[in-house]
Amino acid sequence: MILVTGGAGYIGSHVVKSLINKNYNVVVIDNLTTGHIEAVDKRAIFVQGDLENLKDLEIVFSTYPVKGVIHLAGKCYVQESVLHPLMYYQANVVSSINLLKYMLKYQVNNIVFSSSCSVYGIPNSGYIAENAATNPINPYGRSKLIIEFILQDFAKAYGLNYIILRYFNAAGSDLSGEIGEDHNPETHLIPSIVRHLLGLAEKVVIYGDDYQTKDSTCVRDFIHVSDLANAHIKALEQLLQGRIANEIFNLGKGEGYSVKEIIGYCEKISGKRAIVERKERREGDPPGLVACSKKAYCKLGWKPVYNIEDIIRSAWQWHRNHPCGYQSGYNGGR
Ligand SMILES: NC(=O)c1ccc[n+]([C@@H]2O[C@H](COP(=O)([O-])OP(=O)(O)OC[C@H]3O[C@@H](n4cnc5c(N)ncnc54)[C@H](O)[C@@H]3O)[C@@H](O)[C@H]2O)c1
Repeated sequence: MILVTGGAGYIGSHVVKSLINKNYNVVVIDNLTTGHIEAVDKRAIFVQGDLENLKDLEIVFSTYPVKGVIHLAGKCYVQESVLHPLMYYQANVVSSINLLKYMLKYQVNNIVFSSSCSVYGIPNSGYIAENAATNPINPYGRSKLIIEFILQDFAKAYGLNYIILRYFNAAGSDLSGEIGEDHNPETHLIPSIVRHLLGLAEKVVIYGDDYQTKDSTCVRDFIHVSDLANAHIKALEQLLQGRIANEIFNLGKGEGYSVKEIIGYCEKISGKRAIVERKERREGDPPGLVACSKKAYCKLGWKPVYNIEDIIRSAWQWHRNHPCGYQSGYNGGR
């Protein structure tokens, strides 16, 4: 059985669905702070619990024969982390230590961890490879890097096997239209634009148009959430088969799109014009983050299949069909 922490969240729900479709038995632990019970595949076991609560972890590990863990639970808003670093270190670092404590106690040795490109901070080169310097510029990124260090120390001292996946910007939704991105408030770029174009938000805000990038707005690498989910399966299988352990992989498409370009793609796909407001830069936003994911291609045998238009089209479809998120009538979950 595979334990997925944060399996009711945006990326977690896609990972759970992919695992189940590959015939894995899955137990999810999620405290539903930002996740949704409706997003959890009905075929998974769901435990509403908190990684900050040791009793909840005891219940999960003593009840289910967990062989591997995919650890996605955490808080993931850069600006919120700048305002509330205590909350971020508590939610991300302390929770992860609790989880690892129980993995050691129950001799569960394999973990895939959701890290982030924010560990790189402001990179020197255009394409970021795994060996680029890590110098996070916000508490969110630092919390992820601290967990990476903890995993490395546990691997040396206790024989833990880990694979760290540093995602770039997850976007889009499962093509079935059953699950998608439902964050409140929504701060991610693509859903924010799409929701505006659907008439669900007043305008689109560009934070900073004085960056040294191709059109002065921030540049990001967007990766379809189903491509990400697929990478988790590949990583988990390598760990369970004892082929690869204690490695870090970037997961991105290797294509950088500026905020203005993404607005343009969303306008093209929706056939509507966006109302755009320019605001000051936000603290903690690096100008450009684009992945070199060659290592994942070669060693995990993973390659993203969806392009930027597929990503935006799937996001558009999900938000059009779920204007109030999971409260809009999705009935595939519980
Ligand atoms: N979305 C992205 O673009 C992106 C990029 C890089 C890394 N990540 C990482 O991927 C992971 C998932 O991101 P997401 O976008 O799906 O976020 P999300 O907020 O949708 O999912 C996180 C899930 O974890 C749960 N959770 C949070 N704290 C918990 C706790 N203490 N105990 C139990 N459950 C808890 C939440 O309820 C939620 O369901 C996060 O770790 C995030 O840092 C995301």
